[in-house]
Amino acid sequence: MQQPPVRKAVFPVAGLGTRFLPATKAQPKEMLPLVDKPTIQYVVEEAVASGLDEITLVTGRNKRAIEDHFDAAFELEYYLQDRGKMEELAQIKTISELASVSYVRQKEPLGLGHAILCARPLVGDEPFGVFLGDDIIVSRVPCMRQLLDVFERHGGPVLAVMRMPREELGRYGVIAPRGLGGSVYEVQDLVEKPDPRDAPSDLAIIGRYVLTPDIFPILADTLPDSRGEIQLTNGLRALRGRRLIYAVEFEGKRHDTGEKLGFLKATVEFALARPDLADQFRAYLKSLDL
Ligand code: G1P
Repeated sequence: MQQPPVRKAVFPVAGLGTRFLPATKAQPKEMLPLVDKPTIQYVVEEAVASGLDEITLVTGRNKRAIEDHFDAAFELEYYLQDRGKMEELAQIKTISELASVSYVRQKEPLGLGHAILCARPLVGDEPFGVFLGDDIIVSRVPCMRQLLDVFERHGGPVLAVMRMPREELGRYGVIAPRGLGGSVYEVQDLVEKPDPRDAPSDLAIIGRYVLTPDIFPILADTLPDSRGEIQLTNGLRALRGRRLIYAVEFEGKRHDTGEKLGFLKATVEFALARPDLADQFRAYLKSLDL
């Protein structure tokens, strides 16, 4: 099925980052760096590498630093130019030239479904990608590109999924899959954070989605859950009654930087992947008497 190219990407970044307090008391968790790059930049780079360059960030209070990060930084640029620090200059200019970035505020923390609904005026009547910034995915083909390939073939919403140990399923949306060959599934049902004993499979939803604009009216009608949040998974479940939804078990390594241990592991792996740090850092890790 021929699909118009997807151009838009939505990043819900209004979360309060309570798992990283006190670091996130006065700065957004999305600005915490893996080595020297804020996590949000890795994810925006994935969007751009996947062909999505109209970025909408759904922000909230205390998120100004993200806006400044993707903006030009005149004084810093002038300073670096003046001191002949051309490499650093090129690096920071690339960030503000990456993509067109727009911002909309989610005024209340009413859940992921509500955050996506806040982007509706900027997305309009087009399909779009959704990126949850806690999930950093290292892969040969960018994860979102893998989802878009399935979208272009099948023409319906696509969710990223990965197999998860049963005891961890209660932290995720989980799908009931019907295999379509290879790593692609038709989603027969999906449940948000099930009791692991009742989970319909071990395929958990990871933070990448291709959505179609018919999700918006459904989210507007989706009732809040027991915590007062509008869940995207519940909206997708209602959409599932009207059209086919797909899932792809993506190729790549996913880091959960939304929790401390995952963040630390990602920091170590990203440092070991850096040519300028790898040798010395590896030697240092080996020297630790563990
Ligand atoms: C959200 C979604 C969940 C999904 C997860 C992926 O949950 O609601 O369905 O599996 O992201 O990271 P959260 O992590 O915001 O609780």
